Amino acid sequence: MHVNLEQRKFVVPEIIIGLDASLLIGRYLGHFGATKAMIVTDKGVSDFDWFRAILSSIKEAGIAVVIFDDISSNPKDFEAMLGAELFLAENCDSLVAIGGGSPMDCAKCISIVSTNGGHVLDYIGVDEIRLPGPPLLCIPTTSGTAADVSQFAIITDTHEHIKKAIISKKVVPDLALIDPMPLMTMDPYLTACTGMDALAHAIEAYVSNAASALTDVHALKAIDLVHKNLIDAVKPDRTVETMHNMLLGSLHAGFAFSNASLGAVHACAHALGGVMDLPHGECNSILLQRIIAMNFDFAAERYRDIAAVLGIPAHNLDNEGVKNALVGEIAALRTAVGIGELIGQTIPEHETIEAMALSALSDPCMVTNPKTINLSELRELYVGLFKA
Ligand SMILES: [Fe+2]
Repeated sequence: MHVNLEQRKFVVPEIIIGLDASLLIGRYLGHFGATKAMIVTDKGVSDFDWFRAILSSIKEAGIAVVIFDDISSNPKDFEAMLGAELFLAENCDSLVAIGGGSPMDCAKCISIVSTNGGHVLDYIGVDEIRLPGPPLLCIPTTSGTAADVSQFAIITDTHEHIKKAIISKKVVPDLALIDPMPLMTMDPYLTACTGMDALAHAIEAYVSNAASALTDVHALKAIDLVHKNLIDAVKPDRTVETMHNMLLGSLHAGFAFSNASLGAVHACAHALGGVMDLPHGECNSILLQRIIAMNFDFAAERYRDIAAVLGIPAHNLDNEGVKNALVGEIAALRTAVGIGELIGQTIPEHETIEAMALSALSDPCMVTNPKTINLSELRELYVGLFKA
């Protein structure tokens, strides 16, 4: 058995997972010495009972609240700047992100700017943040992004219309309260997209050039959990146990990708999502099977392990057979949960394809992809998304 002796680090925040974990928020803000918390969230959650219960928990702990919900589904640079301005003007001392990846990523950006000054885009890239921010507590209400445990914050550069990645240990939240109850009200399509995002995290982390024994175990467990639960999670009669398993899958995938990084699926999805303003998970779903087909020969043994977890009899098949079965299984899962493709839609103009290809090429996630993908392959990939 091959043993990898290269040095690897593994960072995770404090986590509480289980029924009603979100209601511990007041007590934990108290532990951090908070007196005034900014809640960063989506519009439209305030009517849910679980949101009111979270607010009550904070108020009962004697902590004042400022709500910031001016966030779009792919958070924009100016939204983070507005949030940071409000955080400072209101003299807040802590951040609570409630929602999916968008509010959690926006809260991370608010934390960076309110502490370090400047513009949020100054911090794009790896380890560009000097000072750690105020306590950041996350309550995820989707099962996929894992922004509640990751070293990543994704923000849209509205000048270039491209999503960009900030990667730093300083954006790892201080606490994640992971509770299945808020997920019971999640829209089924969002459940499908975020679940496929979690699957992409786990697969990319497992084939990443920076994978390690510590991340591998989490990546394979995540693949298994998402594969076994995602179809049930989008059904109207889904159970709290199914949503708990989806959260667990997302969490394991988060441990894996936050430490092993990602690959070409995310590099290409960031560019595609920025240009077309599509949900992140939808972009990943569309790209995943195509990137597996491109990458397979460069990490065949790793993809064979993934195929085995998905129930494909890999030991009876040659590499070509496993590749085809794996691509087919991913496509079938995507279709089963109601996510289509871009085939038949108008192909973007040449300049747009070029901008997406260049952006994907320089995305930090591309560094750990098992295959070195060149610019012409990226152009071809993007055009191919629109062709049968
Ligand atoms: Fe993702």
